[in-house]
Amino acid sequence: MRSGCSGMSARCVVTSNLVLAIETSCDDTAAAVVAGGRRVLSSIVASQDDVHSLFGGVVPEVASRKHVEVITAVVQRALDEAGVTWGDLGGLAVTHGPGLIGSLLVGVAAAKAYQLSTGLPLVGVNHIDSHLNSNFCDTPDHEGAPEDFPAVCLVASGGHSDLSLMLSRSEHRVLGCTRDDAAGEALDKAARLLKLGYPGGPAVQKAAEGGQLRFDLPRPIIEGTFDFSFSGLKTAILRVIQQLEKKGEPLPVNDLAASFQQAVVDTLVRNVREAARQEGARQILLAGGVAANKLLRAELARVGEDLDIPVRYPPFKLCTDNAAMVGAAAWSLLQAGKRDDLALDVFAGLESC
Ligand code: KG4
Ligand code: ZN
Repeated sequence: MRSGCSGMSARCVVTSNLVLAIETSCDDTAAAVVAGGRRVLSSIVASQDDVHSLFGGVVPEVASRKHVEVITAVVQRALDEAGVTWGDLGGLAVTHGPGLIGSLLVGVAAAKAYQLSTGLPLVGVNHIDSHLNSNFCDTPDHEGAPEDFPAVCLVASGGHSDLSLMLSRSEHRVLGCTRDDAAGEALDKAARLLKLGYPGGPAVQKAAEGGQLRFDLPRPIIEGTFDFSFSGLKTAILRVIQQLEKKGEPLPVNDLAASFQQAVVDTLVRNVREAARQEGARQILLAGGVAANKLLRAELARVGEDLDIPVRYPPFKLCTDNAAMVGAAAWSLLQAGKRDDLALDVFAGLESC
């Protein structure tokens, strides 16, 4: 490792456009090397799904311990796969919130240690900014979105349902967010009720493929806002399941999954359509784990056709949590001179609006 500019220096100069990024906000341990905030040279994700699936959801304490076990190996692999060494890098980036505090602390502590030993400039990145920026990543088989603003971007994941207006790579205004459960969380909870396993989103999508839209579930609207609410939808499916069980009828799992997925997607799409129309968006961007959902993509494609604007989303591997998006978001911050030091703190950010 080299010794560059001093750890705390706000004057520290960025000498290369290569950023090593670290992401540990939830249950994936990830590291990546990204060039110029766009080109992904490596993106390593060590998933903990196997462990958490035993419990039907993420257990924060277990997640932190797993991050500690693998973080250094994941970082080394990101460097190796990118074919770079510490001396080639121009900066370090790490997610410092929102997320699970224990998980975030592992990534931030690792980033601080690397910062101390290399002297590289360090910047803390917001997890939602990262998801927004995942759209601009170039990979060997996918060209990122053009920087065409304003863009309406939906970040739908296990922890967030945020609708934002992007004005540049580093500036956005939150138009709406969830008042209770996130879209992915709702899908995960429905999957648990239907005994489909974890993570629930892909399981519900798969079960829905063979199902009919037989159940009339609510599409919650919070008038006058672009906010979302999914907890009522979860209660509604629970009631349907309880009624069917009371009658001793076998659960029509595929039909229930299809009806639930449609209700979640309709709710998300309605707000995206309205926001894009009202804000005169030049493109619609999609991010977060739920962005992998095929029905959501198809319905949003229709919105794009109606409004005559493109709808774009990152490749699947960059939809779910990863560190490439952190490196993508960090570049404009580093260029603007943002620097963090050993005082960099983590935040849970449960109040996402
Ligand atoms: O962005 P992400 O990896 O982590 C968070 O920050 O939460 O998103 C994970 C979420 C989970 O709730 C998962 O069920 C959901 O994304 N998900 C999907 C699909 N793939 C993952 N939801 C719907 N359809 C999918 N194909
Ligand atoms: Zn996420």
